[in-house]
Amino acid sequence: MSHSTTIPIDIAGRPTSLVVERGAATRLATLFAQSGVEVNDRRILLVIDRHVSAVAARVATSLAAAHAHVSVIHVDATEAKKSMEAVDAIWHAALAARVDRSGLFIAIGGGLVGDLAGFAAATYLRGVDLVQLPTTLLAMVDSSIGGKTGINLALPGGGLGKNLAGAFWQPRLTVADADLLSTLPARELRAGFAECVKHAVIAGEQCFADLEKDAALLCAGDAAAFDRLIPSSAAVKAAIVSRDPHERGERAKLNLGHTFGHAIETMRGLDLLHGEAVAIGLHAAVRCAEARGLLSPQVGERIVALVERVGLPIRLPMRVSAADIEHRMGFDKKNQGGALRLVLPRAIGEVSVEQGADQSSVHAALAAIGASI
Ligand SMILES: NC(=O)c1ccc[n+]([C@@H]2O[C@H](COP(=O)([O-])OP(=O)(O)OC[C@H]3O[C@@H](n4cnc5c(N)ncnc54)[C@H](O)[C@@H]3O)[C@@H](O)[C@H]2O)c1
Repeated sequence: MSHSTTIPIDIAGRPTSLVVERGAATRLATLFAQSGVEVNDRRILLVIDRHVSAVAARVATSLAAAHAHVSVIHVDATEAKKSMEAVDAIWHAALAARVDRSGLFIAIGGGLVGDLAGFAAATYLRGVDLVQLPTTLLAMVDSSIGGKTGINLALPGGGLGKNLAGAFWQPRLTVADADLLSTLPARELRAGFAECVKHAVIAGEQCFADLEKDAALLCAGDAAAFDRLIPSSAAVKAAIVSRDPHERGERAKLNLGHTFGHAIETMRGLDLLHGEAVAIGLHAAVRCAEARGLLSPQVGERIVALVERVGLPIRLPMRVSAADIEHRMGFDKKNQGGALRLVLPRAIGEVSVEQGADQSSVHAALAAIGASI
């Protein structure tokens, strides 16, 4: 058996944990037993991303040997299908498989399937147990931890509103098996590094320096470097959500780079993955913090350099108007954008939530990422 790390996630009333272990998908029943997740005679629905359908057999074999009744539903991992129709299909697959309130859903896929299956689990029969088996780097270090689940909604004026309906629903267990990353397209893998850089900035010098040291190895796909990165990065999120499960305070720190990132992620023609948009958003947050005198240029440069070293973009792939980005950030010029809230870095290991908009620093940030002012 390869090395195994268990990270406790101490959420009041619903403690859970994350197990990081190569090959874990093939011995899921054993891990369940070790974590107190019942398998024997249990009805289990695997909600699996079509692109990783080969994983279903491995998981089902392990669970069936432990006398579970396993059913499978394949889903498409596209934002358009992160929808109520998909939730409905999962509910009906569960009904057809006679999953009752003692049943269990296992989400097998990236963040998209985790959010979708998680929301279906939170609502089916008013809630059944959920286990997350993430298959992307982003899901292993970020989205499968913390219990946020949800789907997209069509906006009245057209377009898709991301994650507008959902629930907090903590998984009973999350299992990160880095072997599952072997089929992940290189661009998707790289996109996951953005959240790792974000976690390192939040966590502090040790974590940040480790990532600086490992950046080249990670880009080359070095297995040992991934085995160091996944538990250390996931632990940052686990610690924060343990202290603030419902985002009433500290959890907001995890939005570092995301206010800018979300605004550009869905812009037409840019064709950015979430992680790529967050990478550009991290650069913007650094320049914004520098313009406000919160962050020294030396430290700012160090953060931006790390984003680049893990192979992520720091500038928009084409020119878009700053006004359009500001609008998407909820920047209302009429009231001086009083509602805008930005998470900005002050040092490695220190970020703060800044209320109120200082337009010139936002402009400096947008100019730095290549938006036209
Ligand atoms: N709940 C949270 O806290 C949270 C946090 C961040 C992001 N998210 C959500 O996560 C989603 C993005 O997740 P993601 O970046 O993990 O990507 P994803 O789930 O959208 O998957 C990206 C692509 O990779 C494919 N894929 C996944 N695993 C694979 C594998 N091992 N081999 C081959 N192909 C594979 C998928 O089919 C898809 O085409 C978004 O919907 C976002 O809203 C949620």
